Amino acid sequence: MNELEAVRRFEAEAIREIPSEERPVYHLSPAVGWLNDPNGFCFYDGRYHLYYQYHPYATRWDVHMRWGSWSSKDLVHWQYEKAAFVPDKPYETGIYSGSAVRAADGRLLVMYTAHHDEAAIPRHKIHESQCIAVWNGSEYEKAAENPVIDECDLPGDCDMEDFRDPKIWIEDGVYYCVAANRRRSSRLGRLFLFRSKDALHWEYVSTLLENDGSLGRMWECPDAYRLGDKTVVACSVMAYSTTDPRRRNGYTTAAFIGGLDLSTGKFVLDPAQGAGLSGPKMADRMQQLDLGFDFYAPQTMESPDGRRILVGWMQAPEAGGNAPERAKWYGQMTFPRELSYEDGWICQKPVDEIRNLYRDTRSASAVIEGENIHLDGISGRSADVTVEAENLTGVFEMRFAEGEGCGVSLSYDPESGELTVDRSRACRSSAICDVRRVRIEADRKLSIRLLLDRYSFEIFVDQGRHVLSGTLYELPHEAEGIGFSCRHADVRVCVSQIAESPIDSSRIQ
Ligand code: FRU
Repeated sequence: MNELEAVRRFEAEAIREIPSEERPVYHLSPAVGWLNDPNGFCFYDGRYHLYYQYHPYATRWDVHMRWGSWSSKDLVHWQYEKAAFVPDKPYETGIYSGSAVRAADGRLLVMYTAHHDEAAIPRHKIHESQCIAVWNGSEYEKAAENPVIDECDLPGDCDMEDFRDPKIWIEDGVYYCVAANRRRSSRLGRLFLFRSKDALHWEYVSTLLENDGSLGRMWECPDAYRLGDKTVVACSVMAYSTTDPRRRNGYTTAAFIGGLDLSTGKFVLDPAQGAGLSGPKMADRMQQLDLGFDFYAPQTMESPDGRRILVGWMQAPEAGGNAPERAKWYGQMTFPRELSYEDGWICQKPVDEIRNLYRDTRSASAVIEGENIHLDGISGRSADVTVEAENLTGVFEMRFAEGEGCGVSLSYDPESGELTVDRSRACRSSAICDVRRVRIEADRKLSIRLLLDRYSFEIFVDQGRHVLSGTLYELPHEAEGIGFSCRHADVRVCVSQIAESPIDSSRIQ
């Protein structure tokens, strides 16, 4: 049995051991074991395809990564597909992140990073290069030309230990890809643009962006796409250190808005962005795509109707060692989000297909004056919740996933504009970040959309200008209270309960 067959046999057995009540209600989790980045997100042959960095044999990351796989007709009802790739060529010991594109001739191409780490050889050396695989209708075939981008194709001063995560697309019959690299001398990240006629022979075009030292260290998982009349170039940033309360430190995702000329490869940043940040440094020119606890390595695709849709890995990489005891899986994706560009901001909202999962919707209007007030019919743990709060006097607080002595708190101070999400009462058994603060526009009203699931929440503030996501691995599932506190607030709430939609596993068993 080869390695791919072994993985498939293992996941087919192991998935039976995980009852749907031990999974998220409507967020994606791995067939078994560990998941990190979303990969190969595309629409092909009438279905959405989404892959994931996968280590089926344990709930932690492993250097020999594989690709797990799902597919869906509508972005909300998914099925598990068999594991797609394993490292089985001399140039790879791990299949790292990558992307997919429908080729000009209609074939599905995947471009991924071959990570090569041979601990056994003298002078142990890590080497990363980019590879192509082609879908033949039942399996992926790795190209004979692999690796298709390697050291000889690059400008100087490249650290080949850190050269990865190609995001491929096609425009006017030409393939482009953006990939991340670490400059050997400075140890800082940069994003390269490449061009190709056939996806097998690539030429370096330009360096789209380079870390000036203000934005973490290495950059990973780049993306480049049009949004309205702008181009967004995004990447995930390792080890960003800041004390600014408007920003999220640690591992984060930065998006830059500007204009890209593909013929020269020149990316010109817009002078000021909606995030209210401007200044000479890279860190002053980005919008962080998620300011919450758990979000990294997002990838986007264009849906057949022209929407730009993003899925992110809903976990802080720093929390990699924190799988709950006895967990059989660890790692989730965010719910798919539609992106738009408005007044200098990248805005995000859950894709409208979420309505296909609603089973019951209730609304309430109330004047909140007092502490922890519960409204009739307003509760739920697997729900899409909208809250419009106006005429605020004093701090407005909303508690959700509330149970006996536990829950998550979202509070907003209309004077300072500070919004705080506190999950210190979420029963975590590990010491990881508990509080996030975001400075939003000071206003006497607040508009929130909250996606709640058994193991997570995603908060969209002000029509998705700010997003805060977090996981909730250890909070009891019965904790489903929603309560409000304020000296005075006029509140309208709408809660749509989300029906359990287990991911169909029939194709992998
Ligand atoms: C980001 C990342 C990628 C890499 C992959 C390996 O989380 O480090 O840069 O391709 O994970 O699993």
